[in-house]
Amino acid sequence: MKQQLEQIKIAATEQLQNAETIEALEEARIKYLGKKGELTSILKGMGGLSAEERPIIGALANEVREFLTNAIDSKKAEMEQALQDEKLKKEVIDITMPGKRSKVGNLHPLTKVLDEFKDTVIGMGFEIAEGPDVETDYYNFEALNIPKNHPARDTQDSFYVEDNIVLRTQTSPMQIRVMENKKPPIRIIAPGRVYRSDAMDATHSPIFHQIEGLVVDKGITMADLKGTLEALIKSIYGDNAKCRFRPHHFPFTEPSVETDVQCFNCGGKGCSMCKGEGWIEILGGGMVHPKVLANCGIDPEVYSGFAFGIGLERLVMGRYDINDIRLFYENDVRFLKQF
Ligand code: DAH
Repeated sequence: MKQQLEQIKIAATEQLQNAETIEALEEARIKYLGKKGELTSILKGMGGLSAEERPIIGALANEVREFLTNAIDSKKAEMEQALQDEKLKKEVIDITMPGKRSKVGNLHPLTKVLDEFKDTVIGMGFEIAEGPDVETDYYNFEALNIPKNHPARDTQDSFYVEDNIVLRTQTSPMQIRVMENKKPPIRIIAPGRVYRSDAMDATHSPIFHQIEGLVVDKGITMADLKGTLEALIKSIYGDNAKCRFRPHHFPFTEPSVETDVQCFNCGGKGCSMCKGEGWIEILGGGMVHPKVLANCGIDPEVYSGFAFGIGLERLVMGRYDINDIRLFYENDVRFLKQF
């Protein structure tokens, strides 16, 4: 039996030495120390030993058991440590690697040009006014001297929410809203979205942006209108920009003008951009109609004013030589990141 125990010790030691995985160690533990293990069965067989032999064999068996238990436990601990080390090594972060740069967007060209425009007019003493996109027929048309059957309504076919509620077709209703709430002197711009029932093509969109301007005070004349617009146009297109004023008709201004800028592409000779005209129309304006002032409770005998309306998309298209209005709304980053 002593011999058997020694053999077990040798065989087990060898098996442990060869064990390469934690599973192999567990197998060895079961084989020798398990309930039906080799060492266990020897211990069970000790009942048949003589009284002298029993303590000697018992002590030896215990020693072998202790030896094997320790050997298995320490090898297992070693293996676990090695696994842990390997895992940590794999997870180590190389702090010398270049980081991943997160992408930062940029302003939409419409926002960018509008911001610049706001800066310029704020420098001239204007305030920024804002108003609703969903507007009443009264503010959008009626108060602006465009009664129900006026032909000017034909060019501004709108989306009707209800009979007397429309998506505003122009920013001009802001003139009325401001004049109703503020006594002159008034100097505001009102940028915002406008809506028309137009089919989408390269130059039309059912949603676009306008910038309304309004100045009302004592003694405001056409010279103020021309001077202000000329200064604004130079701030957008550069100091060499030339502009011209043509007589026009708007129901809410009298007299009215349309303002053109000399084609920045061909310098006025005529090209595809200006359709051979040499000039590009960029805004409408005029002296606020006395009836419109009166509609807002401002005495036209005491006060006068000028107003203008600019199409933001058209302005930006001219500025960056963009030939299709749809590009503004498609959110294609290849387009947007150019500005
Ligand atoms: N609201 C006009 C339009 O959409 C543009 C306009 C013309 C605005 C003359 C004005 C103005 O303030 O005085 O066509």
